[in-house]
Formats: sequence, structure tokens, C-alpha cells
Amino acid sequence: MTNQNAGIIGMGHAYPEGILTNADLEKIVETSDEWITTRTGIKQRRKARADEYTSQFGSLAAKQAVERAGIDVTDIELVVCATTTPDQIMPSTGALIQAQIGAVNAAGMDVFAACSGFLYGLTMVESMIRTGQIKYALVIGAEVLTKYVDYTDRGTCVIFGDGAGAAVLGPVAEGKGILATKIRSDGRYAEQLYSPGGGTKLGTTHKTIDNGDHFFKMKGNELFKIAVRSMADISAEMVVKAGYTVDDIDMVVPHQANQRITDAVASRLGVPEEKVYSNIAQMGNTSSASIPIALDECIQSGKIKEGSLVLLTAFGGGVTWGGTVIRF
Ligand code: COA
Repeated sequence: MTNQNAGIIGMGHAYPEGILTNADLEKIVETSDEWITTRTGIKQRRKARADEYTSQFGSLAAKQAVERAGIDVTDIELVVCATTTPDQIMPSTGALIQAQIGAVNAAGMDVFAACSGFLYGLTMVESMIRTGQIKYALVIGAEVLTKYVDYTDRGTCVIFGDGAGAAVLGPVAEGKGILATKIRSDGRYAEQLYSPGGGTKLGTTHKTIDNGDHFFKMKGNELFKIAVRSMADISAEMVVKAGYTVDDIDMVVPHQANQRITDAVASRLGVPEEKVYSNIAQMGNTSSASIPIALDECIQSGKIKEGSLVLLTAFGGGVTWGGTVIRF
């Protein structure tokens, strides 16, 4: 068995042109820019048109990532799409993206881990590259959450936005790439954030549609506490596992769930504000797409460069969570 380090060798991201501002939401539900800003940090989010769907944004991000990685798309052996909002229940959005980008030598699949999906994908692919099963893979986080949001529920509709981010993973030199990564879940909290309809339990009937069972339901304030604790604990564990201390971390790129969650995680870890990336004001919460979009923005703006030590951490429905330490 080989022991090949795996790292991110190219990234890309994409999102719809459409923007939904807090002022727009004030006209739809009983809310205010002031409430949304102080409780979440969000000022606007991207919103797909009715004729736009998840795989389109995933494919755009993936094409950009492959181009920046400088490899041929036919060298990709696995396309993992992390999504909670697939184009359809079958086939997987990963297989649809595989066809759209021409990754003819790959297997396509989806990972369902809500907002932690990108870290689930990274963790799985890292071990496949490390053991020599595959050389290059795409891990994509892609979501059109605004089609699963109930625009009469002010507790959820102000939070979620659309977009996609993608990373090409491949072999990197020793001491670089993914140094430590771990994923967790606790299904006992399943009903804290879920979409009850559409599956084999309730099916899709006139009744489920009338009840709005196909929309996301969230107990936001209960999730808040578990999210902070889970992200902070797994982050601290992964930093130690990677052989570093929190002070060695150059940049933290957390899942963009809520600015208050990000601030609380950073304060629990003892990381100063300037080392914690946030784009939640412009993007809202894009679930599995939030980390790869934010990470690509950091790379493009030079906040993360060759040699940077980066901590990623996520939390989402399931509940699921994860932490990853990467040396770029
Ligand atoms: N505008 C105005 N008022 C709102 C509102 C909105 N958009 N949404 C909720 N409220 C009201 C509630 O009805 C409640 O009113 P009440 O006190 O009269 O009953 C009050 O604000 C407080 O609601 P609460 O849900 O306790 O607010 P909060 O401070 O917890 O903020 C979230 C709500 C959703 C922003 C926050 O809980 C959160 O971000 N949670 C974590 C989400 C998360 O991590 N999800 C998983 C990962 S994606």
C-alpha cells in the first residue's frame, strides 16, 4: 500500500447572477435588515432562476478547478458532488456533472452530509489518493438551496443562498496537502434541520405538498449551540493530530452558517478575527458549497498561498460535522 500525500491542486467557484437582498426579503416576510444583519451577518445571498439548477453551477466550478490544476479532465477518476439539493433523486448530480464536464474516465457520485458534505468528500478522496487507488479526483460542493426554502418561514428563508465550489485533489509532496481530517455525525439530532417529504417515508403526495413537507425545517437556536461546540472541538483535535498548535494556523475557513457561530468558534479556539475568513455578508449560507467558495476566494485574493497552514471546519444537518488541516 502506498502512502501518497493528497492535496488541493486547483479550485474554482460559481454562483447565480441573481441577488436577493435583505431589503427584498423585507417585502416577502416579516423581517428587517437590522434583524438579519445582527443575528446572522448576512446582507445578501445569490438566488438561482427557475430554469437554473445545481449541476450547472457545479460544472462551472469544476471546469475552472480542472483548468487551474493544469491537468486534463480525462485524468479525473472520481467526481464527488456534495449536495443536499440534487438536480433530481436519480441519477446522482456527480454523474450529471461528470457528463457535463467530459470526465469520461471517472466515477460520479453524491455525498449527502448537508453543510459538512465538502469535508466528507475531501476525507474520503484523501484516503483513496493516499492508498494509491486513484490519482486525481474532483470534490464539488453545489447547492440551489433557495428552491428548498419556504419563503413564508422567516427562520430559514433569510439564511440560505445558492452557489458551488470545486477542488481538484491529487498527489502532493510530503509534508503538504491534507495533514489531518475527520468527519462525524449524530443522527439523534436529525429533526433539528431536515426536509421530511419526498422520500420513502412520506412520499410525495398532495398532502405533503400542501403541508410544505418538501421544504427545509430548522430549529436554529438549538443547532447554534451544538454547531459551536462540535466545530471548535473537532478543529482543536485536528490541529493537534496534524502536529501543530492553533497559533500555527494561518487561516481558518469555516462553513459560513452564521457570523455569530463563526465568531464563537474562533473565540473558543483562540484564533484572532483577522485569521478567520468570512463571506457570509455577500453569500449567505450555501451549505456544502460554502467552504469551497470561501477557500477559492482566499486563494484568488492571496490570503492563502503556497505554504499556508489552513483549518477547515463544518457543521450541518444530520447533524454532521468535520475538521480538516491542510498545508498548501
Ligand atoms: N426576522 C425577524 N425575526 C425573526 C426572524 C427573522 N428572519 N427569524 C426568527 N425571528 C424571531 C423568532 O420568531 C423569535 O421571536 P420570538 O422571540 O417572538 O419567538 C426571535 O426572532 C428569536 O428567534 P431565534 O430562533 O431564537 O433566533 P436566533 O437568535 O437563534 O437566530 C438563526 C436564528 C437561525 C439565525 C440562528 O439560530 C442560527 O443561525 N442558528 C444556526 C443555524 C445552523 O447552524 N444551521 C446548521 C448549519 S447550516
